[in-house]
Amino acid sequence: MKTAGHDPALDGLPAILLRASCGCAKCREAGSGQRLGSVTDLPADVSVARTSAAGGTVEVIFGPDGHRAVFSREWLADQRRPPDDDRTEDAKRLWAASGPGAAAGLRRHDWPRYLADPAIREQCLAALLRDGFFLLRDVPCRPGTVLTVAGSMGYVRETNYGRLFDVRVEATPANLAFTGLPIAPHTDNPYRDPVPTVQLLHCLASAVEGGDSGLVDGFKAAALLRAADPAAFGILTRTPVTFTYADATAELRATRPMIATDPRGRIREVRFNNRSLQPLRLGREGSPDETVAFYAAYRAFAETIIRPDLMLTFRLAPGDCAVFDNTRILHARTGFAATGRRHLQGCYTDLDGVASTLAVLRRGREATR
Ligand code: FE2
Repeated sequence: MKTAGHDPALDGLPAILLRASCGCAKCREAGSGQRLGSVTDLPADVSVARTSAAGGTVEVIFGPDGHRAVFSREWLADQRRPPDDDRTEDAKRLWAASGPGAAAGLRRHDWPRYLADPAIREQCLAALLRDGFFLLRDVPCRPGTVLTVAGSMGYVRETNYGRLFDVRVEATPANLAFTGLPIAPHTDNPYRDPVPTVQLLHCLASAVEGGDSGLVDGFKAAALLRAADPAAFGILTRTPVTFTYADATAELRATRPMIATDPRGRIREVRFNNRSLQPLRLGREGSPDETVAFYAAYRAFAETIIRPDLMLTFRLAPGDCAVFDNTRILHARTGFAATGRRHLQGCYTDLDGVASTLAVLRRGREATR
């Protein structure tokens, strides 16, 4: 039975939003569900002329053209939820290595079980999006297998380092990674825009003293900085800084803030790498005082990042593979003797592919319920 008149399900939803969202065959292509027209095709003076309710749906007749749309009550209720950008701090579980809110720990998931069981894959990918990382073990120590791991969750991001890169001591290193020196917490490739958003590191050999790994939740560090020193946090979100990398075949640069926030001010991305950061240039509008304030803010963030209670430390054994969100998690390693054999292979993939794989896995689970 239809009832006419004002329907509270439409409260707070303007006519233009409803008209632009119409799902009828004139407005959307039936096969793909994609929108056919442009916002410029809609009447600028659109209004809701009449509504009527039937079961779980509300029918709307628009003025001035009499266009008809039908919306489910579920869809109408959904439009009141906040925007669902799953990349911001609101969608994450921030962690420290110890104390309250400590990370769930360093459980390693078995690669054979990950491959065989969609529920384990779902757990791992959900952890990557929520906690920023997960660890696998028993990944075969064959060169190139890291690409198979990346392929299980998305698409390999090829860079100037190739589809994969080797992390081991080299005779003429172009990057500190290829020496036995310690490396402070950093995100990779900040000199790239877009930055690779997921990094994988697969351990093939680790017969050396040292060379331990560390992970820091950069969103947690940024949130702590915001609480302790809001002015410093603000400076790092507003100041564009340049990161560069050059070798014989590549010259890369990107200029972004160290802490990127979404339009509502929520932490969304961290770029932090002392090796490739260039001197701050503020141009004609900047003052020396601003430069000094920037370096003080940068120092305050760096001091937060190296707090011992924030860094999760562990040792990658042969067959282990660490997978982490490179827009959030900083990684580090202790130094090691250049004489023993330590060999990791790494590659990059992206968060959008991971989120897609996870959504499809969840769809599969819901279908079998
Ligand atoms: Fe790195």
